[in-house]
Amino acid sequence: METLKVQAKKENQNFSDFSAVRGKEIFFKELIGKREKKVSCASCHTNDLTKTGENIFTGKKIKPLSPKVNPKRFTNVKKVKKWLRRNFKDVYKREGTALEKGDVLYFMMGVQK
Ligand code: HEC
Repeated sequence: METLKVQAKKENQNFSDFSAVRGKEIFFKELIGKREKKVSCASCHTNDLTKTGENIFTGKKIKPLSPKVNPKRFTNVKKVKKWLRRNFKDVYKREGTALEKGDVLYFMMGVQK
């Protein structure tokens, strides 16, 4: 999170902190994504972060994202980076900005901001 904050500050001098409220919008926003399908982050991860999801392209189960029920989540920086890059491309057809990544991470981690 600290690295993302430094990047976000570089992208926008007025940056002060990430916002889970904005992150929630990023998570639920539906766009025409991978394979021209209408998708949001919730398409695979469900509307409830504590529930098991399913990859809409492969049908494979995905363990819940919420660290409340899945304490291993967000403990491996490499993994978080890899999947955020991939998943932003699936939905937004581009990489997320530092601000977007930080916002959506606050939402998924359950930060109250
Ligand atoms: C096409 C299905 C799909 C979509 C859409 C999707 N994800 Fe994922 N996501 C996965 C899969 C598969 C994994 C890897 C399996 C796992 O970690 O359980 C994953 C893993 C993650 C992780 C890694 C968590 C960790 O343990 O470090 C994060 C963070 C994440 N997704 C966020 C997002 C966000 C944010 C979006 C929307 C921009 C999104 N995902 C959209 C399928 C998807």
